[in-house]
Amino acid sequence: MKKTEYKRTFTEDWDFRSSDTKEYTHTYHTYPAMMIPQIARKLIEDYKPKGKLEYILDPYMGSGTTLVEAKIKGIDSIGTDLNPLARFIAAVKTTNFNEKLIKEYLSKTIKAIDDYKFPKKIDLEHITNVDFWYSKENAAELYYLTKIINTYPETIRDFFLLALSECVREVSYTRNGEFKRYRIAKEKLHLHNPQTFKLFINKLERNIKGLEDFNKIKNSSKTVIAEFNTVNGIPKEYIKEGSIDLVVTSPPYGDSKTTVAYGQFSRWANEWFEFDNAKKIDSLLMGGTKINDFTLKTETIKDELKEIKKLDIKRYYEVLSFLDDYYKSIANVSKAIRKEGRICYVVGNRNVKGVQIPLDFFTIESFERNGFRHIDTFVRSIPNKRMPSKTSPSNKKGANVTTMVNEFIIIMDKT
Ligand SMILES: C[S@@+](CC[C@H](N)C(=O)[O-])C[C@H]1O[C@@H](n2cnc3c(N)ncnc32)[C@H](O)[C@@H]1O
Repeated sequence: MKKTEYKRTFTEDWDFRSSDTKEYTHTYHTYPAMMIPQIARKLIEDYKPKGKLEYILDPYMGSGTTLVEAKIKGIDSIGTDLNPLARFIAAVKTTNFNEKLIKEYLSKTIKAIDDYKFPKKIDLEHITNVDFWYSKENAAELYYLTKIINTYPETIRDFFLLALSECVREVSYTRNGEFKRYRIAKEKLHLHNPQTFKLFINKLERNIKGLEDFNKIKNSSKTVIAEFNTVNGIPKEYIKEGSIDLVVTSPPYGDSKTTVAYGQFSRWANEWFEFDNAKKIDSLLMGGTKINDFTLKTETIKDELKEIKKLDIKRYYEVLSFLDDYYKSIANVSKAIRKEGRICYVVGNRNVKGVQIPLDFFTIESFERNGFRHIDTFVRSIPNKRMPSKTSPSNKKGANVTTMVNEFIIIMDKT
């Protein structure tokens, strides 16, 4: 083994091929590159840090898989994400809404739908190119639903809005199975005839089932949804230094523009609900802003970086910008963890210009620099992860190379 490599344990123990990944509130909403709940669950149950386990952090919480699993186990948790849709999903998924009230308002919603008439006035100025993305009928129906839901009591409104959030995307002319905003081909548009109201009610009914199961295991643990950027630091009012027992997270693998399009996926809901920064999420996320002054030190991926630099200088700087942010985030997360606390990072090793970047090694190396010891890395295959397994290395059609077929579950302890 080279000095810059670390142990990897290849195993099927983490594949969960036949598991139901949509239990409890995990069923509420899709999100790009979601973590499988069973992974978070196994880490929380079987890979507890030495000593107490009372406080869990997810610094890239996305749709809140880790937070939901922490809540199910009765453990306090805190998560942060710069994407408002992610925060919204995570907040709704970790709330014990009153089922009885939700069902009452479901009946009211069905009644209101029965009374639907094309609205006289529609104000959708906050939706970019609304006529390009929606038929007139569908836009009016979605507008009508938004209006109704906004009259509901605050204590239940978000439950309904989250179901609508999936609808605003699915009803639009965006292509199914893509996170990016690609419009359905013109000649196929007539085949797209979504039943807005039916879709919405189906989602509500599905989510109510999830809520019922979630409420059965109600406990008094607390969940905090935050908006800080660990690249810049962790505000003390949220987390005191040395207070976190366990981190369970899946960070991005690269900047959103060239890897997973979190911003584009989220723009539907972010615009419909007028969330902050609706259009510029991708530039806010890690690696989203190019930097020229790098402080990054690395032994583990220096050869790969050299190669990418030779092949494409622009891509090289993009990768460096991401890694630089990622390292800073790791340094800040490290400070938040108590002595003998543990981190579990689930990462993927993507290809850039045909060069695979071993982000697992870089993650371990970075945590080592911040006082951690590597315990193990479990390698799983990702059959059911909703992300492209192929990306074009040079944006040429037909020149695809396989990128992430494996996922690396890194476990390290603070010494
Ligand atoms: C792989 S996803 C997490 C998915 C999550 N585990 C789940 O199950 O839904 C990575 C997340 O990191 C977020 N992110 C990227 N850069 C960030 C930053 N600097 N601070 C906080 N979140 C960030 C993205 O918005 C995205 O939601």
